[in-house]
Amino acid sequence: MSGSIHLFNYFYGLIEQTTNTLIYRRPTMYNNPELIFEQSVPQGKISWRSPSNIALVKYWGKRDVQIPLNPSISFTLSKSYTETTVEYSAAEEDEPGVQFFLEGEINTSFGEKISAYFQSIGDIYPFLKQLKFTIRSSNTFPHSAGIASSASGMSALALCLCSIEQKHFGGLDSEADFFQKASYLARLGSGSACRSLYGGLVSWGKVNGREETSDLWGTQQIKDVHPDFLTFNDSILIVDAAQKKVSSRIGHGLMSSNPFSSARFEQAQKNIGRLMDVLKAGDMDAFINITESEALTLHAMMMTSNPYYLLMKPNTLNIIERIFDFRKNTGTPLCFTLDAGPNIHLLYPEKLNTEVNAFIDGELKPFLHQGRVIADRVGEGPEKRKQ
Ligand code: DP6
Repeated sequence: MSGSIHLFNYFYGLIEQTTNTLIYRRPTMYNNPELIFEQSVPQGKISWRSPSNIALVKYWGKRDVQIPLNPSISFTLSKSYTETTVEYSAAEEDEPGVQFFLEGEINTSFGEKISAYFQSIGDIYPFLKQLKFTIRSSNTFPHSAGIASSASGMSALALCLCSIEQKHFGGLDSEADFFQKASYLARLGSGSACRSLYGGLVSWGKVNGREETSDLWGTQQIKDVHPDFLTFNDSILIVDAAQKKVSSRIGHGLMSSNPFSSARFEQAQKNIGRLMDVLKAGDMDAFINITESEALTLHAMMMTSNPYYLLMKPNTLNIIERIFDFRKNTGTPLCFTLDAGPNIHLLYPEKLNTEVNAFIDGELKPFLHQGRVIADRVGEGPEKRKQ
């Protein structure tokens, strides 16, 4: 390994350690010492299905215990989801507290992460240490599709925990209370996960002039939204299926030393305010402008971090250029956004399905990994599964 690469990895290691301690510092809201089993410890099983989401205004940068440095808003997806089943019974001394199975196979590294997460929320749910868990999780999107599963995975897990609370202690009777707490708990596991608790469009983070918004949980934003946006399609174009080299957690951490960070946080605040007006008015041109600018700004933040890095691939740019040309030449109102990775989310109104799919098949497929496209759309949010 060359000296500079060694230094690069060393630096990232330090950030990873620092952000880990930030994430797992104990939260204070919802702390409740009474949520403990006084007599016998029950056993049970609960399952939730929870979707992934794609941000239009991006969350990039956080402080303290998963508090975002700017507000974000996302489309909840429909077909990309995680289904998680949690089985619990009385803890035993010599057995691990969490056994985690992903797609039917034991995964000790995820199991350890979930144990650490359970410890971090020990003041909210003291009963967790009285239990042992077998957790089975599966995603509809293949692990190798390069799609992050933390939003769907953490929201599904948070929902299971809230269901355990509700079943044995009550107190989360209203739907609003139940989902708000699940969103709060999901946020502590992964920031963007708190937006997966509701269907349609969901914001997270305090938006100037919007009293209903919060840094602590997601808020559904479908009132007054033009109906076209609630049935949008998202064709996820898989450019590269490899796991990304720099995690989002590290990327968030690098914003603290990015020279453009304060301008970026202000821009996001303005963009989300504008976007909320645009969603109401149904102004497609302005929607396209804000969405694509946000995607490129996210990647500009990666390129202007120190150390700098690139997650787009040559074919990401090839596709973006073709999207620009197609839109200019045909007037079709479609646009792209990007996650923290090379894959493209192609967003367009449902009624353009036929022509956009012809464009994908005719012009974009050659740039895709094994020609792979996940045909997703805006979805309705999580669903409790029957046992
Ligand atoms: C680029 O929510 O994955 O997708 O809070 O560290 O788990 P953690 O990060 P994560 O970051 C997502 C970043 C993003 C933008 C977004 O979804 O808003």
